[in-house]
Amino acid sequence: MSARQTSRRLGGLSPFPGPRRGCDAERVAWRGGRVNSIHAASRAGCGRLIDDGIVRRPLTEWTTSEHAERYLARQHAIPHRTEGEAVLLAHIPHSARRILDLGTGDGRLIALLRLDQPDIHALGLDVSRPMLEAARQRLAGEDRITLLHHDMSSRLPDIGRFDAAVSCFAIHHLDDPRKRTLYGEVFELLEPGGVFANLEHVASPSERLHRRFYEAIGYPDDWEDPSNKLLDVETQLHWLRELGFEDVDCYWKWLEMALLIGVKPAER
Ligand SMILES: C[S@@+](CC[C@H](N)C(=O)[O-])C[C@H]1O[C@@H](n2cnc3c(N)ncnc32)[C@H](O)[C@@H]1O
Repeated sequence: MSARQTSRRLGGLSPFPGPRRGCDAERVAWRGGRVNSIHAASRAGCGRLIDDGIVRRPLTEWTTSEHAERYLARQHAIPHRTEGEAVLLAHIPHSARRILDLGTGDGRLIALLRLDQPDIHALGLDVSRPMLEAARQRLAGEDRITLLHHDMSSRLPDIGRFDAAVSCFAIHHLDDPRKRTLYGEVFELLEPGGVFANLEHVASPSERLHRRFYEAIGYPDDWEDPSNKLLDVETQLHWLRELGFEDVDCYWKWLEMALLIGVKPAER
């Protein structure tokens, strides 16, 4: 039986108890929120592995310590990223209390958000346990922060509603149909008026510009990250508009780094 047939067969009758398949909360402190129910489900077996007999390769390079550590060692050296991050932070309203970070890595964006707004409750999710461990260390003792192990190539688990969703250099690791579906899931979990801000690694319009970007960030000439599935800005902006976001635009860009923002319409 193919992987697709098996997953279709399992789809209707999920063998995983709990709200969704494949989730487990690493740290839960979401007072009054629904993440507690995920945590309870986790302890009750949501992270249980059901062997369907299919031999899988690792989901992505990001699940290995080597890949995570290589990124963490050089993340501060990525030129211009702080400019993009500053524009992102400037577009998260001060009234936002609950913030979701998709592909949180070591929690860099959450830490930046908290400098500005110490009272926020943030949920950071990521597929990489080494990354989540780095985030746990970075955000140790922060009782308003929740870290959740989740592979975004699957539907987001039931994590409640948010005033803002942010992401930095993460969603480009998903294939294009999943990127679009995820944007739709983000739209659904935002409160009316909620902001989605995605500082993303996007595709260049030409191979020459792609090479120029890698040269500018200090990568070898012939290097390509096998986990990248880069997509142009225009397509992603178009999707966000189609999904119902307002004020959709590219708010900042430098070569292959672009900040895409959309706002869920407020209830009238
Ligand atoms: C380039 S790092 C960025 C991390 C962090 N957002 C930052 O700004 O430093 C990409 C992150 O996306 C995560 N990631 C990649 N594929 C993922 C997936 N399918 N589901 C969840 N997280 C994923 C990786 O584990 C990694 O932490």
